[in-house]
Amino acid sequence: MEQYVVKGGVPLRGEVSVGGAKNAALGILAAAIMTDETVTIENVPNVRDTRVLLQAIEGIGAKVKYVYNNSVQINGGSICDLNVEYEYIKKIRASYYLLGALLGKYKESNVALPGGCNIGSRPIDQHLKGFKALGAKVDIDKGVVCAKADKLVGSHIYFDVVTVGATINLMMASCMAEGDTILENAAKEPHIVDVANFLNAMGANIKGAGTDVIRIKGVSRLHGCTYSIIPDQIEAGTFMVAAAATHGDVVVKDVIPKHLESISAKLMEMGCEIVEGDDWVRVIADKELGSTNVKTLPYPGFPTDMQPQMAVALALAKGSSMVTESIFENRFKYVDEINRMGAKVKVEGNTAYIEGVQRISAAQLSAPDLRAGAALVIAALAADGISEIEDIEYIQRGYEDFEGKLSCLGAVIAKVDSDRELQKFKLKIG
Ligand code: EPZ
Repeated sequence: MEQYVVKGGVPLRGEVSVGGAKNAALGILAAAIMTDETVTIENVPNVRDTRVLLQAIEGIGAKVKYVYNNSVQINGGSICDLNVEYEYIKKIRASYYLLGALLGKYKESNVALPGGCNIGSRPIDQHLKGFKALGAKVDIDKGVVCAKADKLVGSHIYFDVVTVGATINLMMASCMAEGDTILENAAKEPHIVDVANFLNAMGANIKGAGTDVIRIKGVSRLHGCTYSIIPDQIEAGTFMVAAAATHGDVVVKDVIPKHLESISAKLMEMGCEIVEGDDWVRVIADKELGSTNVKTLPYPGFPTDMQPQMAVALALAKGSSMVTESIFENRFKYVDEINRMGAKVKVEGNTAYIEGVQRISAAQLSAPDLRAGAALVIAALAADGISEIEDIEYIQRGYEDFEGKLSCLGAVIAKVDSDRELQKFKLKIG
């Protein structure tokens, strides 16, 4: 099984380019099937989650053509099956975006219910509530959501919780409904805006994305287009925090600095120097890190997907910090792992109480989920000694060539697939 091996203690220095946003790409790839014309999507991150979703899209009969590494063409004109198999949902929850896309286009869709995952139960009640409000009959039969409507009619939908997934699913399901739909208490993440902009490029009429009220005027059909996905806010933030935790000096390129404001603000509170350009952010962390407190919130608050990474940097900061996770109920599984490295973190309820330490030591680690896995890599980069990280397939879900990009910043890291490769690398780095 592949694993990372990391020799810590090297400050990250140099420039790194960020890829397309995974969480925008997953909504956009699903929405692309809503036209029978060809859609070209650029800046698609080549990660496990996008590859699996494209397999699911091919699985229902759409044509998918990989133009080159980060561009893909999709044509939904040949779709012949409205059933999305559990095997895809099991691999990535976001396959449930096909529910909203197929229902919006064909007024019918059957998609296996996503289970919970490593960070929480993650219900989809708001998605189903919205589909019903548009006039769909929604049943759950043997673990499959069966949604069907003679026609979909615009409605005024209020989300009981701010939910990225339901906001995206309902934008898709309502954009070809008859009449107007209003989504209240909508999520405002950059990837919501990106999906709305993509649907509008296909001929939809969506206004207000990025605010908590989104207005959608149904249109009769959507057409092909070419669209480029926004930079990944979380990949960018991960490199920013890695620079801080290793006392490095890194320019993170091809980003939208506005999307990174909450992360930059927290790093500045910790004593990092942040310099912003039009499409880059530089993190200079040559001084000792100071403590601060973090609470995850929907955008523009501090993103939950950056919580584990920030907690690792705070574990290495001088003083005590608190990290409160307000979005998911089980997103502290990395804490046991970093405590084995010498960190001093105690979790009570949805808050981690961190007592900063000067040094942590390498260890054999196991990634519990995608962002916790990235956080463990950051911990290993900052630790004394050589760490080994297993279960990196979680990390590969959301980071394209993570080890390659870190190596370009001076990190001593390799992906190895056997004990022989591991020993060879250890001998090489001494
Ligand atoms: C998206 O998940 C992201 N995934 C997550 O990123 C991200 O952490 C999350 O949004 C929050 O920003 C993708 O975009 C593929 P939600 P999603 O619906 O849509 C509750 C990563 O690391 N809720 O905004 O599933 C839910 O339980 C991943 O890239 C309901 O109660 O998140 C949670 O507590 C991890 N009922 C909260 O809302 C519903 O019907 C936010 O969930 C839907 C959600």
